[in-house]
Amino acid sequence: MLTINDLKVSLGRTSVLHGIDATAVAGRIIAVIGPNGSGKTTLLRAISGDVPYQGRIGLDGVDLAALKPWELAARRGVLPQAATLAFPFTVAEVVRLGLTSGTQAARPDLIARALEEVDLTGFSGRYYQELSGGQQARVQLARVRVQVWDPVQNGRARWLFLDEPVASLDIAHQIGVMRVLRRFADGGGGVVMVLHDLNLAAMVADDVWLMHDGQLLDNGPPATVIGGAGLAAAYGCPIRANQLPADSATFVLPHGLWDTRKADEAAPVSGFQATSVI
Ligand SMILES: Nc1ncnc2c1ncn2[C@@H]1O[C@H](COP(=O)(O)OP(=O)(O)OP(=O)(O)O)[C@@H](O)[C@H]1O
Ligand SMILES: [Mg+2]
Repeated sequence: MLTINDLKVSLGRTSVLHGIDATAVAGRIIAVIGPNGSGKTTLLRAISGDVPYQGRIGLDGVDLAALKPWELAARRGVLPQAATLAFPFTVAEVVRLGLTSGTQAARPDLIARALEEVDLTGFSGRYYQELSGGQQARVQLARVRVQVWDPVQNGRARWLFLDEPVASLDIAHQIGVMRVLRRFADGGGGVVMVLHDLNLAAMVADDVWLMHDGQLLDNGPPATVIGGAGLAAAYGCPIRANQLPADSATFVLPHGLWDTRKADEAAPVSGFQATSVI
């Protein structure tokens, strides 16, 4: 279990997170949503142990601050929002970085299996820099996966902390990655990921955390949070939430922004009436 108590983060002179309380349970998928600059990445960096913080973060009963770097690396894999590589690594070499930073260096077979998982079989000898943006993103995900391949190790859950893992992926590969994450969670692992795609979050997440202005504005099941009034307020734009007749799945659409045939006469975004219908 991941427990966050009164979490505060300042970066430079800026107070970015203002006191967050939340709990994530292994075996479930958490989607962190919220507008640009609301603190999603900072929250993910804090729970990853990558940024100084005040308050308490507990990972399966242990204080995060007390874990040594190698203990942290054995328990959680982190996909940052942007990953750059300065050297001409091959795909296999990039994925291998995950093996060596975790505790599974003795399992080189995982490289091929992780590449297969993200539909990059046959790419291991290719140069990372010569791949497309979406392919590079999938290589990075494979790197994180090999670090914490088994969702449970020595009876303890492992965690995937992913910042916009599918932002540059086509729809088929988005679904493929979501299946990987669901299998990981079903196997007992924990997943906390930042998503901008609200429909994907509604479809995949067990719980949604809605960030706004450095605070957790709302959290709960997708139908409650994505169907709730807080959503339009957080994003500052009109959003209509509804449910599909077939299976009651929640979906959202931007609502009443303008008539596309008369875009030049569009009303300004401000002054709208937020709508949330469910
Ligand atoms: N190194 C830094 N120094 C000072 N302020 C920072 C720093 N990094 C981020 N911030 C500020 O913290 C706030 C939250 O940033 P964060 O990256 O967590 O947002 P986000 O929700 O992930 O946004 P996005 O959707 O654009 O990725 C922003 O106002 C940002 O300007
Ligand atoms: Mg971010």
